[in-house]
Amino acid sequence: MRREGDVMNFVQRIWEFFSRKSTAAQGGGDKAILKQKASGKMTARERIAALLDPGSFHEYDLFVEHAGKDFGMADKELAADGVITGSGLIEGRPVCVYAQDFTVAGGSLGFMHARKITKVMDHALKMGVPIIGINDSGGARIQEGVNSLAGYGEIFYRNTLASGVVPQISVILGPCAGGAVYSPALTDFVFVVDKISRMFITGPEVVKTVVGEEISMEELGGARVQVETAGNAHFFARDERECFGQIRKLVSFLPDSNRRKAAVAAPKAPKAAYKIEALIPKDSKIPFDVRDIVRALVDDSDFFEVQEHFAPNAVTGFGRIEGETVGVVGNQALYLAGVLDIDASDKIARFVRFCDAFGIPLVTLVDIPGYLPGSDQEHGGVIRHGAKVLYAYSEASVPKITVILRKAYGGGYIAMCSHHLRADFVFAWPTAEIAVMGPEGAANIIFRNEIMGADDPEEMRRVKIKEYTDKFANPYVAAAAGYVDAVIPPGETRASIAHALKVTRDKEEARPARKHGVPPF
Ligand code: HXC
Repeated sequence: MRREGDVMNFVQRIWEFFSRKSTAAQGGGDKAILKQKASGKMTARERIAALLDPGSFHEYDLFVEHAGKDFGMADKELAADGVITGSGLIEGRPVCVYAQDFTVAGGSLGFMHARKITKVMDHALKMGVPIIGINDSGGARIQEGVNSLAGYGEIFYRNTLASGVVPQISVILGPCAGGAVYSPALTDFVFVVDKISRMFITGPEVVKTVVGEEISMEELGGARVQVETAGNAHFFARDERECFGQIRKLVSFLPDSNRRKAAVAAPKAPKAAYKIEALIPKDSKIPFDVRDIVRALVDDSDFFEVQEHFAPNAVTGFGRIEGETVGVVGNQALYLAGVLDIDASDKIARFVRFCDAFGIPLVTLVDIPGYLPGSDQEHGGVIRHGAKVLYAYSEASVPKITVILRKAYGGGYIAMCSHHLRADFVFAWPTAEIAVMGPEGAANIIFRNEIMGADDPEEMRRVKIKEYTDKFANPYVAAAAGYVDAVIPPGETRASIAHALKVTRDKEEARPARKHGVPPF
């Protein structure tokens, strides 16, 4: 008899478990799920499945209950409290993940919802694995008042603690409004999807009331605005599946944490289509796409661009050389002649600091006429923003390898990881021009009297420009001073960088003791 009772008890317990599990896992119910799908969105669980290696997800805290007591919340069941948390694998490597479930109370963030997120963040930090957060939420759960604000505060605090310790990735797959945007903003990389992502501090209604401006949600904070104009997001995808593919690719370049090195892949030669000599126009005045030069240098010509659509006058991204991840920074002469402006400075500085925090060597390709002039830039604080580039490169103690392709003028020469900011190796192509400014501008200033006083000022201008060009528009003056370590033909660039990476592998560089620096944020 007793044995029969035990068996019944066991069966009942198992039945109870499955029934509780299926209730908790069903999200906000059929109607809400249909609405989610009708708006072109996947459910939270589908998203996690699409992101991770098949069958690798392990869920935590499925049975957590919400803490709302007021406004009729006490009797309400909110499946998994509107957020799915756990860990899984990407290409066999562990990651922690959370996905807000918009079908449950609009994915709104209550106290326990936040606790689930902070728990999985703590876990990621302790274990040293990346944390990926999928945001799709109406923001702070209004019924829970200050307790939901407390939840956001706890998340922001952990985002800051985890910064530079584990890679933090945010995915915006729905609304992410009000203070909620500040968690993604504190993380390393933000992914958005066309027509699905919406990020803003205040929505169109508030904008209309307060500023009197009529603007649609898409125009105010849609995916394109975020990647092209605001620069809050780093990656743009046309649909959710493409977005998850991008995240998996990004993770493949990164270490699990700052305690580890990025995984080394099998080395591959660049593709034959990217032959460096064939990519450089004979006429030094014709600009080339620096991304093609990068593709001619990295393994399999695989360059994974970060912030591709923002400040395109600078290029940042990951690649591999002889299997090892490198962070590449380049000036893009095709846009604004490759000048540094406010946005390009922010883009470069942030990328350099990420690479430095995670031990990723930096390769800098220089072709820069200087900082962008103009009152817009001056009044917008180009001095303050430009200083971030100097700070980030100077602060970085990872291997720093610089190649000067063409122009390296003025402040741009110094800022783009010159020896003076402690590049470990500076190479220059024979086409490099390293000077305070371009020969035309320089001749007009320093030979003004000779030019004006000449019988044929235009002829004199030509003579003086040539004089300046012969003297400075080359790499040899800098090489004579030791500011350039080697002048190399373009075809030797990959081999020179690969060798420099080997030499710098165990680089150590001391810094003065301090709590932390005070960069020009
Ligand atoms: C509680 C919420 C909610 C919220 C949505 N819901 N947002 N419940 N708290 N913040 C609920 C809705 O009541 C609804 O419940 C369900 O989620 C789906 O919402 P809908 O409005 O039907 O969806 P949709 O039409 O797609 O509109 C989505 C939305 C809208 C644009 C996000 O819901 C909205 O404007 N929500 C409020 C946004 C907001 O003001 N949040 C507070 C921001 S302040 P039912 O039961 O009807 O299905 C903030 C401060 C953070 O976040 C500060 C941190 C420092």
